[in-house]
Amino acid sequence: MANPSLEATVDPNLIAGFIAELGSDSSATVPLLQAIQTQYGYLPRTAMDLVVEQTEISGSQLYGVATFYAQFRLKPVGRHLIKVCHGTACHVTGADRINTSLHYQLNIQGEDEDTASNGSYTMVDVACIGCCSQAPLIVVDEEVHGNLNGAKAQKAVRMHARKAGEELPKAVKQSLKS
Ligand code: FES
Repeated sequence: MANPSLEATVDPNLIAGFIAELGSDSSATVPLLQAIQTQYGYLPRTAMDLVVEQTEISGSQLYGVATFYAQFRLKPVGRHLIKVCHGTACHVTGADRINTSLHYQLNIQGEDEDTASNGSYTMVDVACIGCCSQAPLIVVDEEVHGNLNGAKAQKAVRMHARKAGEELPKAVKQSLKS
């Protein structure tokens, strides 16, 4: 379940502006979803409700498209993004262990959750990003950190958090050694 404190405050005028610009029939469904996601980083429920109220697009159409395309996200996103590469080279050298280690560090619990409990970081799995000689690796915002294990991945996130002035969740008790 999404952390309610991460929910965006939606400006109804902005949504009305998107509809005026992009249209209100079903052909505007994808452009509207893209505009909303670009604005908020995900598709807030309030914004989706406004689109349904103010256009000819039904709720089932809107959510059908939003859940069909992987580019759309229905949950709030953290202030920073950690991409964990799961391409072949990263997979065979330990991407899963890095995932486990960072989930622990960021106190991300539950199979469907991907965002730290304090909203600092969101983790996403990505395909090969073309730096296989540094496998396994993560990208924190724009920074690439390669040749990792679980402990090094935690250290990379800790250093990033220090530079970005972010707190890591309190549940961290120890670093993993793997
Ligand atoms: S598989 Fe991870 S960078 Fe290529």
